[in-house]
Amino acid sequence: MSFNLGFIGGGNMSTAIVKGILKTDTHSPSKIWVSGPRLNNLKHWSDLGANITNKNGEVFCNCDVIFLGVKPGMLEGAVNDCLQTLTTTMSCKKVLFVSMLAGITIGDLQKALKQLSKDVSVIRIMPNTPMTVGEGACLYTPDDSVTEDQCILVERLLRNCGMCERVPESLIDSLGALTGCGPAFVYIIIEALADGAVKQGVPRALALRFAAQMVAGSGKMVLQSGKHPGLLKDEVCSPGGSTICGVTALEEGKIRATLINAVQASTLRNKELGKK
Ligand SMILES: NC(=O)c1ccc[n+]([C@@H]2O[C@H](COP(=O)([O-])OP(=O)(O)OC[C@H]3O[C@@H](n4cnc5c(N)ncnc54)[C@H](OP(=O)(O)O)[C@@H]3O)[C@@H](O)[C@H]2O)c1
Repeated sequence: MSFNLGFIGGGNMSTAIVKGILKTDTHSPSKIWVSGPRLNNLKHWSDLGANITNKNGEVFCNCDVIFLGVKPGMLEGAVNDCLQTLTTTMSCKKVLFVSMLAGITIGDLQKALKQLSKDVSVIRIMPNTPMTVGEGACLYTPDDSVTEDQCILVERLLRNCGMCERVPESLIDSLGALTGCGPAFVYIIIEALADGAVKQGVPRALALRFAAQMVAGSGKMVLQSGKHPGLLKDEVCSPGGSTICGVTALEEGKIRATLINAVQASTLRNKELGKK
């Protein structure tokens, strides 16, 4: 791919995305730019071969597709920094912004980014950190000015990072709570399952490794078999067997209601973040 790719904000999520993108040779690291206020926090980007700068304007001037990876409350500051550090006047530059900012709507993004150029298009994404190992789940919604070719370009770029699907913007906060916050929920489940095995005398490292593989494999079973998870669960529970005894303990602990409430709490917070 011959275009220059930019990141404004090179923290955890941007790093996960760039590592996913660089997993194959489709985009050269020398054509990637990243900016942030402290160059020493971007050392891992120069180790990957990317260009680093503390001027957002430099990323804007050099790049055609720019990921926004700052915290939601930092959008205004990042745009101001961009305006103050432009190396040339670029008020008509054609640029595609890809925003990962939780809760910030396409309308708000357009308003903020129009200050940089009249010809700005915006794609809103909700990524997750497993993109770093190529097993992510990324949602996206384009604004009305984004072309089919631009959608294909972004999908192609993010395909190396895992699943990437277009959804209506009305689903980004809720489905994004499941995919973006969900990894933290699953890490807790993996840790707790390993704790359970440790309680039964299994060494911790062994328990963690097998708990993680079991969760990864179960997810693949749902995706590849096409079967409803309830059916897959029934297939594992033989009458009077050990699995149904464990399932009963889970139901007594209200695991379903707890997970439903977790997705609800994260969805509400996503919506709040956009209003601030
Ligand atoms: N983490 C996730 O799992 C996840 C999932 C979905 C969506 N998101 C979204 O991704 C975005 C980033 O989250 P994160 O977890 O990656 O946060 P993070 O690790 O704190 O990254 C934010 C980055 O922005 C930089 N920054 C601060 N002010 C800036 C400015 N004015 N201009 C340019 N860069 C600036 C920070 O640099 P310094 O560190 O040097 O201050 C930092 O590298 C958020 O909007 C979040 O909603 C995150």
